Amino acid sequence: MAVFELQDVHKTYKMGSETVRALDGVGLAIEPGDFAAILGPSGSGKSTLMHVLGFMDRPSSGQIWFEGKEVSRISRDRQAWYRANRIGFVFQTFNLLPRLSVVDNVLLPVSYSREKMPDKRERAMSALERVGMAHRADHVPNQLSGGERQRVSIARALINKPSIILADEPTGALDSKNVEKILALFEELVDEGQTFVMVTHDNEVAAHTRRIVRMRDGQIEEDLRR
Ligand SMILES: Nc1ncnc2c1ncn2[C@@H]1O[C@H](COP(=O)(O)OP(=O)(O)OP(=O)(O)O)[C@@H](O)[C@H]1O
Ligand SMILES: [Mg+2]
Repeated sequence: MAVFELQDVHKTYKMGSETVRALDGVGLAIEPGDFAAILGPSGSGKSTLMHVLGFMDRPSSGQIWFEGKEVSRISRDRQAWYRANRIGFVFQTFNLLPRLSVVDNVLLPVSYSREKMPDKRERAMSALERVGMAHRADHVPNQLSGGERQRVSIARALINKPSIILADEPTGALDSKNVEKILALFEELVDEGQTFVMVTHDNEVAAHTRRIVRMRDGQIEEDLRR
C-alpha cells in the first residue's frame, strides 16, 4: 500500500483578483521505502506540496490517500493528529525552540500528541543516539553548530516512528561538509526502511536519492526512479 497517493490535487490561492495555482493537477504515489527528491524552480509548488503532504494545508480540490485512507477533507483536529503522530518534519532552519534543551526539543512532537508515551525520555535519548547527539542532550540549540542542530531536528522527526519524513531544503543552511554528513545519515535511515521525501535546489543533493520528481508551474513535469 502506498504511503501517499495523490490524484489531480489542486491548491489555489486567491490574491485579490488574481488566482495563484500553486498546485495544478498533481498526481503522485509515494511508496514505502521511497527516497525521493523534489526539484523545480522557485515558485513551482514544492513547498506547497510538502505542506499538503504534511497535513499542514488542505488541497483546494483533488484526492489524497494516506496509507489507504482518504484524507483530503478531514477535520483540522484529525490533521493535527496525523502531523503529531505519523509525519516527521525536517526544516531548512531547523525550527528548534531556543529555550528548550536538546532532549526537550526532540520531545516536542510528543507534547503535541494526545497519545501517552511512558518511555518518552528513553525514546528521545535513543533518537539522539541514532543521530550521534546524545552527548548534547542537555545543551540548548545555540550551543550547537548548524550541522548538530540539524541532527537534533532529525532526531525530533524520528521520535514518533513516522510513516514518512518530509524535509524542505534540509541541507540549504549547511556548509558542504555538514551536507555530506546529513546526507549520509538520511541514506542510513532509508537503508533501515524509512520513507523519505525532500525538497532541494541542489542537483548534487538530489543525486543521493533514488527518485527525482521535477515540478514546474504547480505540475509534475518528470518523475524518474533509479
Ligand atoms: N500562502 C500563500 N498565499 C498566496 N500565494 C502563495 C502562498 N503560498 C505559496 N504561494 C504561491 O504559490 C506558488 C508556489 O509556492 P511554493 O512556496 O510552493 O514554491 P516553491 O517551489 O517552494 O518555491 P521556493 O523554491 O522558492 O521555495 C508561488 O507562486 C507562491 O507565490
Ligand atoms: Mg519552497
